[in-house]
Formats: sequence, C-alpha cells, structure tokens
Amino acid sequence: MDTRIEKPDRQGRVIAKAGEIIRNGGLVAFPTETVYGLGGDGMNPAASAKIYEAKGRPSDNPLILHIADRNAVYDLAAEVPLAAQKLMDAFWPGPLTLIFPKASSVPLTTTGGLNTVAIRYPDHPIALAMIQAAGVPVAAPSANTSGRPSPTRAGHVAEDMIGRIDMILDGGEVGIGVESTIVDVTQPVPMILRPGYITREMLEQVIGPVETDEAVTHWVGSGDHPKAPGMKYRHYAPRAPLTIVEGPQSEVVETIQTLAERAFSQGKRCGIIATEETKGDYPRGIVFAVGSRRQEESVAHNLYAVLRRLDEANVDVIYSEGFSHDHLGMAIMNRLVKAAGHHVIAVGK
Ligand code: TXA
Ligand code: MG
Repeated sequence: MDTRIEKPDRQGRVIAKAGEIIRNGGLVAFPTETVYGLGGDGMNPAASAKIYEAKGRPSDNPLILHIADRNAVYDLAAEVPLAAQKLMDAFWPGPLTLIFPKASSVPLTTTGGLNTVAIRYPDHPIALAMIQAAGVPVAAPSANTSGRPSPTRAGHVAEDMIGRIDMILDGGEVGIGVESTIVDVTQPVPMILRPGYITREMLEQVIGPVETDEAVTHWVGSGDHPKAPGMKYRHYAPRAPLTIVEGPQSEVVETIQTLAERAFSQGKRCGIIATEETKGDYPRGIVFAVGSRRQEESVAHNLYAVLRRLDEANVDVIYSEGFSHDHLGMAIMNRLVKAAGHHVIAVGK
C-alpha cells in the first residue's frame, strides 16, 4: 500500500481527502495535542480490524473514539453522569478521555468487547477538521507499532506505518507529548486509569476526590486484568534494557556515572537520559537532555522522541535519571517506568 504523507493545505483539499478515506473504511494518521493517532471509522468493524492489524495490536485492547463536537457524546454513551459533564465543561476539548457505559450503536470491535466506551474531544485544529470531514466518530489509538514509543512527530509515524496505512497528515511536532489522561466516570468515585497532562489535582478541583487505578503505579502481570486493558502490555519499550535511577540529584548522577563506566569497561554502548541541568556531568556515552527539571512539560514533550533516538543509536544499555512522581511527573514516570519494565534503582534513601 502507498502511504501518502501530506501537510494540510489552505483550500482544505487534503483534509477533505483524509475525511473521505476514513468514511470509506481506510486509515489516516493525524496529529492531536497529545500524540499522533491512527484513525479509522469507529462505527465500522472492518476499519477497527485494519487498525489492530496495522499496529500489530491485540484486539482485546479497546480504542478511543474521537469526536469534534461535545454533543456527539450523547450518541455514543448510554449515560453521561454529572461528574462527566463537569469534566467535559472544564477540560473539553483537551487531553482528557472519559470512559462511559457504551450506547448500543458502538460496535464491540471498537471497545475490545467491553460494554464501556472511551471518548475524547481533542484540542488540535487538524484533528478536529479531519473528524468533521469524516463525519463519523474516529477510532484512534496512538499511531505507533504496538510496543514502540507513541509518535510525537509525523516522521515517527512514518517510521512505523509506511506501507500499512493510506495517509499521514503532517502537522509537525505535537505539543504535550504523552497520551491523554483517562478517567473512568462509570463508578461512584471516578478513577484515573492512565495519568496524563490533566493531573489528579486538576480533576479534583472540579469533581472532588478521584482514585487512581493500581495499574498506574504498580507492576501489572500478564495474568492481571487492569481496567484499561492497554496498561498490561509492555508499552513504550526501547530495544536496549533501560534502568531508572532515582533519588537526590548528585547521588543519581554519581550512580549513573558508575554504572556507565562499568558498561564501557565491558565494551558496551551506553545511552543516558539526562536533563538540561545534568547533561554536562556525563563525559562519556550517548547523552540526551530530555528536558529541564524546572519545566516538567519539556520532559513530557521530548520523552518519546528521545526513546526513539536511543533505539536508532544502537545502544546496548540505557540509564535514565528519575523524575518527580507528582503532577505531570506522574504521567512521565508512569511511561518511563513501563519502558524500563519496572527496573528502578533508588539511591540515597
Ligand atoms: O492521547 C491519546 O489518548 C491518544 C491520541 C491519539 O488521542 N490515543 C491513545 O490511544 O493513547 P491508545 O489506544 O494508544 O490508548 C488507549 C488506552 C488503552 O490503554 C486502552 O486500554 C484504554 O485506553 N481504553 C480504551 N477504551 C477503554 C475502555 N472502554 N475501558 C477502559 N480502558 C479503555
Ligand atoms: Mg498507545
């Protein structure tokens, strides 16, 4: 299959074409404010099957339906609880996905067999224009091959999807860089199933107490059944084994220096995920400054691109500094810890 890579034009021809492809059962990758999505007609089981195939994704892992109009939620959800309405008012359009009881119109192929449905109203002009042009809810997982870091640039999508999908809409780098926060509003106390840019504190300001699913912070084995089925897969995995070192900055740097020296003496190529503040402290190795500790957003923005660049650099081992677990740090560490297969060394405690 030929994959067209196109930048939206002023006349709207490219967007119109993308909408037509989706309406006809094809697949289009598109930018959102979080990561690039791989879109298909969410009401068409054949299109969902194509999405699972293009990603190499297990079909019990449900897809998020993307809408471009708040009212579309009432066609897709059997019930819209009050807490959900408040969250929609506060954060839609934006990086928040809500889980509702599903309406009978939503195919089980889209929801991975669940009787709930994930809905998101993204805040990105290209995504919104494309969904409108398609005229259907757009089912879209992140546009990476299953098990690779989510794409934050059109080039990342191309690395994984050339020849597998009809079109890639190139909207440049995305803003946020980690996937949307997922909140289950079907239970009395809403629960975070996946942390993201919309933090627990931000949610609680609007609806009061919110719980966090165990799978967010704890190891989930293949025999477990987390509420967001996607949380059980080893996601975002770089090719080389990754170890996180966390604790006070100077001790973290010292420990990584020691571990890296050991790797060099064994003839290994060593990648290091550092920060603007510490990159100068590592004289050897392939060092990436993922962002600045003073600006957590910059770490989220660059994290997946750095993991992809480490794969390209063909390193044998990777050491990463740890980050705070609070606020946006919860989302950053959730992704990083999973990429590390939960391999974390705590120092100085
Ligand atoms: O930011 C995002 O949400 C991006 C962009 C493209 O919108 N999309 C994204 O989709 O991250 P995906 O498929 O990579 O991750 C969706 C997650 C999976 O962990 C899946 O298990 C969970 O959402 N999910 C989907 N439907 C669900 C449901 N009904 N109940 C619980 N979890 C659900
Ligand atoms: Mg994904």
